[in-house]
Amino acid sequence: MSDAELISRYHGRVPRYTSYPTAPHFHPGIGAEIYAQWLAELPADAAISLYIHIPFCDRLCLYCGCNTSVVRNDRPKRAYAVQLSRELDLLADLIGRRATVTQVHWGGGTPTAMPGDCLTGIMDHVRKRFHLHEDAEVAIEIDPTTLTLDCLDALRLMGVNRASLGVQDFDDQVQESIGRHQSYEETEAAATALRALGVTSLNLDLIYGLPYQTAESVARTARQALALGADRAAVFGYAHVPWMKKHQKLIPEAALPGAEARLAQERMIRQVLENEGGYVPVGLDHYALPGDAMAVAMRNKALHRNFQGYTTDATPVLLGLGASSIGALPQGYVQNATGVPAYEAAINEGQLPVARGVALTPDDRLRRAVIERIMCDLELDIPALAKAMGADPAPLLKDAAPLSGFAADGLVEWDGARVTVTERGRPFVRNVAALFDVYLQQASAVTPRHASAV
Ligand SMILES: C[S@@+](CC[C@H](N)C(=O)[O-])C[C@H]1O[C@@H](n2cnc3c(N)ncnc32)[C@H](O)[C@@H]1O
Ligand code: SF4
Repeated sequence: MSDAELISRYHGRVPRYTSYPTAPHFHPGIGAEIYAQWLAELPADAAISLYIHIPFCDRLCLYCGCNTSVVRNDRPKRAYAVQLSRELDLLADLIGRRATVTQVHWGGGTPTAMPGDCLTGIMDHVRKRFHLHEDAEVAIEIDPTTLTLDCLDALRLMGVNRASLGVQDFDDQVQESIGRHQSYEETEAAATALRALGVTSLNLDLIYGLPYQTAESVARTARQALALGADRAAVFGYAHVPWMKKHQKLIPEAALPGAEARLAQERMIRQVLENEGGYVPVGLDHYALPGDAMAVAMRNKALHRNFQGYTTDATPVLLGLGASSIGALPQGYVQNATGVPAYEAAINEGQLPVARGVALTPDDRLRRAVIERIMCDLELDIPALAKAMGADPAPLLKDAAPLSGFAADGLVEWDGARVTVTERGRPFVRNVAALFDVYLQQASAVTPRHASAV
């Protein structure tokens, strides 16, 4: 089957499955009171991961789909840092003990847009209210063009050991069209400085499907990225959602590659990273050197998926701090107020700033496990997983019926019990996972809430 035929058949809008149920199904019935109860119920020995969201940037890239805005004045950033420390206090008080933290992930926006002393101050507060494990991963997302010496100093004091650099594309015409100018040299300088201060794991973000990109142009960017010597790369398809992100209306739509071209670009980047860089593909959109912890976790079927994408973090408790952050607890998901004013107003009243969430039913847990294993392992023995979770496999096998068609199209191997996504099918793994998403089935298969499958 040709790419064009595959696309016409599977080009629906499907979630990225960084949670199940997915965020559009969170509702305001889950608020501060229920979250407080969930925190108090956490087992005494539960280790915790923290995600800290910084919704500020020094520049606005036209393609950006993140929750952020351009703020150059320090005052609102300092005020926000105070609120983050207060939120840490609220959470620690409700947990009722100095819980062990094994991972701190700073995301955004651009965390390094914060003044350095705010970053170190919050990290010190984490250490005061929680027990930061001696081997904890401290990871941060960085825009290489705005990384200052003050910030580098702060990252060293914070004990940052993992960093992710936004690259996207090095081509001049592409950069001009997305309003993001970034030279190879400044990206390389950031990578070198981060290695020097103790970053042992470096990730690069690349994007395909941007205006003016071609298979040849993304291959050039991927080759330049190889020279940066990263341990991992994330390769995202540009999600064009101008109905949600108004600034994306400034993207020259006529120059956007179509679905077939996007598939060819994704394949080209994969070839360069695998054949010329020695990276192994991980799940839908990640790559790692074979000795990297993510590649090892994949081989051991110990990879997980959370709001940051693929992760080696197996901690069942992820607390999200800051505006729009999402937390995942054994009982369900919670999301903070999206806007900074609403977030800060709740903290000022001494309230957890939760705006919505969802409590997991037994069926949610089962389907969450099915979807996570398909997204991470690209294979699953459905009856075996159902049995391990004490569930009836029959409803899952009923949902799996369309897999025969997927198999006929070369996207999976399917024997009626075990599904294995083929290399051809890798870009369509979300379509496989979506078969088990009852919320999507109820809401209708085509909804404008998500970006396109490829
Ligand atoms: C928080 S940003 C990374 C850190 C920093 N702000 C920067 O841009 O360098 C996270 C990543 O999300 C990806 N991203 C943002 N908007 C996207 C979109 N609309 N479609 C696909 N990927 C997107 C980019 O690869 C970006 O590096
Ligand atoms: S891509 Fe990064 S730097 Fe650009 S606006 Fe989005 S979060 Fe900010």
